[in-house]
Amino acid sequence: MRSNRPLMRSPNPGRQRALDQYRLRARYYDAELLAFEPIRRQAIALLGLEVGLTVLDVGCGTGLSFELLQQGLGPRGRIVGIEQSPEMLERARKRVSRHGWRNVTFLNAPVEAATIRVGADAALFHFTHDIVRNREAIGNVIRHLKPGARVVAAGATRIRFHQLPCQNTVILD
Ligand SMILES: C[S@@+](CC[C@H](N)C(=O)[O-])C[C@H]1O[C@@H](n2cnc3c(N)ncnc32)[C@H](O)[C@@H]1O
Repeated sequence: MRSNRPLMRSPNPGRQRALDQYRLRARYYDAELLAFEPIRRQAIALLGLEVGLTVLDVGCGTGLSFELLQQGLGPRGRIVGIEQSPEMLERARKRVSRHGWRNVTFLNAPVEAATIRVGADAALFHFTHDIVRNREAIGNVIRHLKPGARVVAAGATRIRFHQLPCQNTVILD
């Protein structure tokens, strides 16, 4: 039987697929990533963080990087987690509240459309292969980096940036 409902198409099917994927993955994501923790450690060490700096955790997921970032930034530093999946973000928020961190803010938005209200000293792209290939997302991050900011991208497969965010970009793959 034919439906009278108009055919609704998602304006961005790729984004919808990613949201669907992380809705399901959120509950076991941390366990899945355990084997890759040495890469995370190396990536965050390469950021060369100092007390008081501001870092963008681009596609922060469940906030698995926060503890190591906090060790570098201290309570006077700032983490801005950008994440489009509400289910992943919910877990990140719980992590922050469990630890009592008061210096983490979240942007629940696609990176390409996020309203970033800070100038950041550093940006981390950890296991965010889709984001780094997205021209608008990279553009939005670049516009919010201070001169001399450091960027580190790490993942399990080859990372191909649409455009390197800055001269201080380190790619670990
Ligand atoms: C593989 S997970 C990595 C999470 C985290 N960076 C980590 O190291 O555990 C990729 C994350 O990027 C998010 N993501 C993918 N595309 C995005 C976009 N365009 N804007 C914001 N978040 C995005 C996904 O929802 C997912 O949480």
